[in-house]
Amino acid sequence: MKRFTTSDFIAKKQAGQKITMLTAYDYATARTMDEAGIDSILVGDSLGNVVLGYETTIPVTLEDMIHHTKAVARGSKRALVIGDMPFLTYHTGAAEALRNAGRFLQEAGAQAVKLEGGKERAEVVRTLVEAGIPVMGHLGLTPQSVLQLGGFKVQGKTEAAANKLLADALSLQDAGVFAIVLELIPAQLAETVTGKLNVPTIGIGAGLGCDGQVLVSHDLLGINGTKVPKFVKQYCNLQEQMLAAFTAFKNDVEQKAFPAREHAFGLAEKQEVSKLY
Ligand code: KIV
Repeated sequence: MKRFTTSDFIAKKQAGQKITMLTAYDYATARTMDEAGIDSILVGDSLGNVVLGYETTIPVTLEDMIHHTKAVARGSKRALVIGDMPFLTYHTGAAEALRNAGRFLQEAGAQAVKLEGGKERAEVVRTLVEAGIPVMGHLGLTPQSVLQLGGFKVQGKTEAAANKLLADALSLQDAGVFAIVLELIPAQLAETVTGKLNVPTIGIGAGLGCDGQVLVSHDLLGINGTKVPKFVKQYCNLQEQMLAAFTAFKNDVEQKAFPAREHAFGLAEKQEVSKLY
């Protein structure tokens, strides 16, 4: 089975085919996404929100990300696995960013990394790409800057903000990113930016005009516990199914309906219980 590559990202854009990406944080989910033919799996630092129970992604550490990226990489044979660089692991200089990004490839088994920010990250992106590390950019609502942005709000709504976002996208492209996530920006802006770039854009809350789409898998599966944002399409309500299954298990055990005969083991023929001790 051939793994999806960063060149395939570009080829899909050129062919006008949509790129599919989902987040995963564990082995079983990654295996299932591979089976579904998802092009790319992002081990997002949304790990902090949906798996670790933090309010933002800011507390997520490099060790958290490496640990979960390893699990995803073990589960995926086909998708391009991208490790999300967490807060403050690429902000303190290109050399440290390179060391940290290298761990995702060398130790965790990812094939690329993602980092947030525009022009101010161009030097870091260049350093990683020159070292052979494929980098995905991330513009618009960048959750690691949520405290500065004043909340999870749509970005790029004014002319100045839209122009800045386009300039940031072009400088990331110049620095060598293979794709850019556009999060929570007006659909018209996402479409314009997409049309001006040679590298693909992957949208989340950015309309249909992007080259591909990504969702946080817990949102799509309805397992997030909280109200999902407007841009999410919930494909099932796994939370309800899990609740029903856990409740049924509790009732079965309490009413001695589980384990039934078919779940229990018998002794070999002629074996006597007394001889087992
Ligand atoms: O961390 C994440 O899951 C992300 C996606 C929302 C793109 O960055």
